[in-house]
Amino acid sequence: METHKQLTIGLFGFGVVGEGLYKILQQTPSLQARIKKVCIKNYSKKRTAPATLFTTDRAELLNDRDINVIVEVIDDADAAFSIVSTALKNGKDVVSASKKMIAEHLPALLELQEQTGRSFLYEAAACASIPVIRNLEEYYDNDLLHSIRAIVNGSTNFILTKMFDEGLDFKQALLLAQQLGFAESDPKLDVEGFDAVNKWTLLLTHAYGIIESPGNILFNGIQHIQASDAAVAKSKGQTIRLVAQAQKLRNGKVAAFVLPRFIKEDDHLAFVKNEYNGVVIESGFADKQFFYGKGAGSFPTASAVLSDISALRYQYKYEYKKRYHPAPQQLSNELFLRVYISFDDISLIPRERFEWIEEWHAEEERKYLVAVVSFDELIRNNWWKENNTSLVLTADPVIENIEIRKLKKKSLELAGIL
Ligand code: HSE
Repeated sequence: METHKQLTIGLFGFGVVGEGLYKILQQTPSLQARIKKVCIKNYSKKRTAPATLFTTDRAELLNDRDINVIVEVIDDADAAFSIVSTALKNGKDVVSASKKMIAEHLPALLELQEQTGRSFLYEAAACASIPVIRNLEEYYDNDLLHSIRAIVNGSTNFILTKMFDEGLDFKQALLLAQQLGFAESDPKLDVEGFDAVNKWTLLLTHAYGIIESPGNILFNGIQHIQASDAAVAKSKGQTIRLVAQAQKLRNGKVAAFVLPRFIKEDDHLAFVKNEYNGVVIESGFADKQFFYGKGAGSFPTASAVLSDISALRYQYKYEYKKRYHPAPQQLSNELFLRVYISFDDISLIPRERFEWIEEWHAEEERKYLVAVVSFDELIRNNWWKENNTSLVLTADPVIENIEIRKLKKKSLELAGIL
């Protein structure tokens, strides 16, 4: 086996992550990885590297026989897919951080990896500095993964922390996240949950072998979270985070979603603040484990790219082993969720579609209720994302089909209806 291969890199992108990687590589000579050329969009921008390093011609990198590794850290998903496909077809190994591109093209990228036999690594695409993909792929290579709950978007976590802990308003907090280089160029991707669900799609593949398009996963962002929601959370001794979750149900299938959620004070995720990300894994015998680290920013993201580059020296590849499990995992909508909903106008909330309502607060201008609703109702309809309605999962939100009748009876008895 060829080991400690000399790596000659063609780098696409010299933004927050690309420049971070350039600086890190200068400090890690032992890696024997050298950037030969950097392809950028805008030649006239001032750069912190010699001008001779740069080009705007993709082919100069993709057709250079000397370059055996393409690192792609640009934020245009279509261009990224074209670069990655060509690079693999041209026999180069590829490292990418483009979560949107990977989530949207996963089946095609799997095929390309099979056809070309090249490595395609993307640890930086989810949770930046936390080595979560390689751990899910290699360490949890069995049936015992009961659930994963994770904060996977640094910008929204930063915004929620600043709103809750420092009293900043949404816009100020977002501006700060942009200035610090955490947010996507189009911050709507962060704020409305697209970035988180893209990352969750990748993690579902490595955790459970499930390949699903991000559009088929239930998700929302934090765009409608209000100061009054924060106040309710505080009054319960809780906080709110945007949490991605996957959980094995008793029907043997997996429930997966990305939604804002109340978090109890003693939950590991309550400890995750600012641009940090966190992952709580529950598995058969190990019980609970917690991974924690920076989820956005120049050096934390570049550190994951660096680790992938280093893994290429020994020809590391993802094998996607869980896809070939004798009983492949499937997603399920057969569950119910206990949710908190705050709203301006009750006539826009279809109360008759709840299984039951547990709390009702109509005193303040901003009203809220706590109710149980089927997962299907949220998948099929958008009322809960519109008209300034804010839906937040309660701290213990999942109710399985098998439990629903008993719980409904109990709640109706409590309300004096039965
Ligand atoms: N915008 C992303 C985030 C960057 O805030 O998490 C890291 O993927």
